[in-house]
Amino acid sequence: MSAPKIKAPRGTFDVLGEQASARTALESRARGILEPAGYERIETPAFESTELFARGVGASSDIVRKEMFSFQDAGGRELTLRPEGTAPICRAYVEHGMHKRRQPVKLWYLSSFFRHERAQAGRHRQFWQVGAEAFGSEDPALDAESIVLASTLLSTLGVRQVRLRLSSLGSPESRGAYRESLTAYLHANEGSLSEEVRERIDLNPLRAFDSEHPGTRAVMQAAPRLLDHLDEQDASHFTEVRSLLEAAGVSYEVDPTLVRGLDYYTRTVFEFTSDALGAQSGVGGGGRYDRLVEELGGPPTPGIGWAAGVERILLAGEVPAAAAAPVELFVALEDGSPAARAEAFGLLAQARGAGLSAQMDLVGRALKRQLSHADSIGARYVAIVGDSRTVLKDMQQRQEEPMAIDAVVHAVLRGQHAL
Ligand code: HAM
Repeated sequence: MSAPKIKAPRGTFDVLGEQASARTALESRARGILEPAGYERIETPAFESTELFARGVGASSDIVRKEMFSFQDAGGRELTLRPEGTAPICRAYVEHGMHKRRQPVKLWYLSSFFRHERAQAGRHRQFWQVGAEAFGSEDPALDAESIVLASTLLSTLGVRQVRLRLSSLGSPESRGAYRESLTAYLHANEGSLSEEVRERIDLNPLRAFDSEHPGTRAVMQAAPRLLDHLDEQDASHFTEVRSLLEAAGVSYEVDPTLVRGLDYYTRTVFEFTSDALGAQSGVGGGGRYDRLVEELGGPPTPGIGWAAGVERILLAGEVPAAAAAPVELFVALEDGSPAARAEAFGLLAQARGAGLSAQMDLVGRALKRQLSHADSIGARYVAIVGDSRTVLKDMQQRQEEPMAIDAVVHAVLRGQHAL
């Protein structure tokens, strides 16, 4: 009786074949756009202290309330698989004293994240995000640059029917008075709101704009809008972001109901959706988080960034699979004698050491099948290693030449240059 099979956990998936090479292509496009703009790659741990997200992402967010994979390690420490990247990168910014570097400090990532959500197309429990965060400047030009880079990435990756929605949440001070009037409005209409929204009225009344519940949506139609209550500085910051986006030729819609699902945002917020996706139309999003570094124990430092879901980009985009690496040399064995096999294995190592892409038969195929395999993988040259001689076959020219085994790598390199 064979052992029972084990499947990947619900909401997770394996990445292989074309999907794997599309991701390689996506990563190199992202690098090609972000690094010339001054963004450096960062990787943070897959798990962090639970407190980082409780404090960083916020107690009223769905993520902290119900979506975190949290556990206790053997030492009793409370840990969580990272549900998002901004709080960990702020933690790293503080931990590595990056405020002492020349600002803005710009960082980008392509990492996996974990949320305990109901799995469906485009919504997974382990998913990947490509993202970018920039610290140390309040300048609206940094907001605009960040949004332009996200937009460029999505269009380079062929994401179809993209819409960019933009708003401003103002600063916490200017939000105070508005928050009171919204809270009062929500309490006055409590009877029509969903239970979830009612529970959050005092914790985060703005989240009511995000609700799908029909009664809540109807109430929110007539709710006071934060965008109409920004103070002068926040309003002019937003105007400047808008005019810079226009200067860069990026089209957007102002959406005063855009609030985003994480609690750390201040001022600019934005979301990219693709109508080519089904229910999960959010392909990327982000905004400013001018208080977050300070809330995580660092010096007051403004920040702005975004993240886009890799699976959703691949669903709505046209990311060409990265071309498979060409095989420059295939080492074949004429017969299976141990001496010839050892020599052939030595040749394989020598070829790779010289920078050639080289492969060898590792399953004991007969010579004829080795040659047809070499042909099928598009090998440029095949070295047939026997006990008494070695022959180098040029698969393109259909020519062959006997030579000393030590001369093979040189001949292949020379042949490549001649091409
Ligand atoms: P977010 O909107 O929660 O923002 O996620 C960004 C993107 O990640 C979404 O637009 C979506 O494409 C993808 N995504 C989120 N959850 C899932 C899921 N369960 N399955 C598949 N894809 C998913 C953030 O995470 C913020 N940290 C973005 C940010 C960076 N804000 C400032 N800096």
